[in-house]
Amino acid sequence: MSGIQLFSPLSVRDVTLRNRIVVPPMHQYSAVKGFPTDWHLMNAGKFAAGGAGLVIVESTKVERRGCGTVGDLGIWDDKFIAPLGRLVKFIHEQNAVAGIQLGHSGRKARANRPWEGDGPLTRRPEIEDWDAWTPVAPSAIAHSEKWPVPRALGTAEVKDLVEAWGQAGRRAHEAGFDVLELHGAHGYLVHEFLSERSNQRDDAYGGSELNRMRFLIEVTEAVRKHWPAGKPLFVRLSVEDNAGWGPEQSVKLATILKGKGVDVIDCSSGGITDVAPILGKEIKYNYQVPLSDYVKHHADIMTMAVGLIIHGDQAEQILRRGQADLIAVGREILNNPNWPMDAALKLGVEGPFRNVPPQFGYWLGTRDKRGFGTRPSTWQTGLEETGKLL
Ligand SMILES: Cc1cc2nc3c(=O)[nH]c(=O)nc-3n(C[C@H](O)[C@H](O)[C@H](O)COP(=O)(O)O)c2cc1C
Repeated sequence: MSGIQLFSPLSVRDVTLRNRIVVPPMHQYSAVKGFPTDWHLMNAGKFAAGGAGLVIVESTKVERRGCGTVGDLGIWDDKFIAPLGRLVKFIHEQNAVAGIQLGHSGRKARANRPWEGDGPLTRRPEIEDWDAWTPVAPSAIAHSEKWPVPRALGTAEVKDLVEAWGQAGRRAHEAGFDVLELHGAHGYLVHEFLSERSNQRDDAYGGSELNRMRFLIEVTEAVRKHWPAGKPLFVRLSVEDNAGWGPEQSVKLATILKGKGVDVIDCSSGGITDVAPILGKEIKYNYQVPLSDYVKHHADIMTMAVGLIIHGDQAEQILRRGQADLIAVGREILNNPNWPMDAALKLGVEGPFRNVPPQFGYWLGTRDKRGFGTRPSTWQTGLEETGKLL
């Protein structure tokens, strides 16, 4: 299709994405007791209808204790399979691939929704299971002064949690998802095991680098047992966390995970400290792309780039430079759920509306044929002017 890599299909195991555009997991904080609502259907649905290749549903918690806020999605019981399946069905009807991220908030659990005041929640009578929701972590070390000290998990509890991730993987499969992503980033439970700052255990899950990786490795093995061999498995890492964990450790980990059946590393950063995940640099377009580039070439694994990728030609340039296999567009797709169509037009893709539902595609395609569709891109010029290109 016009040689534009952003719109070239990608097959991973038995799943083929129609293009390289991914909607990354983005919490909506809108679940009710862990169940998705119509909001989730609308949210995932509009991105799938807008033409993304893969829509990854937000971090969905493998156990109740792992919920970040009262509005987190859950997958800790079979009762969640059918309602999540409703999202999958709708995404599939728009010819997109359906993904879900599995997560656990660890010591950052029991928090406010961001727009209700970021940080820990204060006790509320309407939360009946307040005490059972006590944050847990590898060690009894608070995220920062404003956060409570979590309860350290016992070794047997860690093993139970590994199994909880495995069962969540089974449920995701039964709900019909095609792609599973494990959330290993942003200072949540898995990352807390990886980081020396939050993990000071003296059992097999703490101490050496390999011991700190053990939880994620066992989670991956447990998930792979239930997640069919034909379906892709992604892991999101904070490739650089600015607190002792960096690209070299990430490459070692990615190499091990590849051997356990992981196909794609979703390359993010930060979150283990209160320092913003931009590694102390001035935030720029593509700020995490070098991390994706590094992991892709040193671990010889497919990667997804994410973080301030806003323009179609910017995304295309990352792919052409061989810095990533997939491009995740987060906040910009909240701004414009039809971003893939817009990017196709600006990049001059032939038949830019070919892969979107005919309810839009037919009318926009007709207009395009009459020469009213093409739009110039503004990104390159904008960057040259502001000097923001990395
Ligand atoms: C509203 C919102 C919710 C998010 N929720 C998640 C999440 O559930 N899991 C996750 O790994 N990252 C989450 N993120 C991070 C995004 O996936 C993405 O990495 C980040 O927004 C940077 O990409 P962008 O610059 O394209 O927005 C969230 C971001 C936003 C804006």
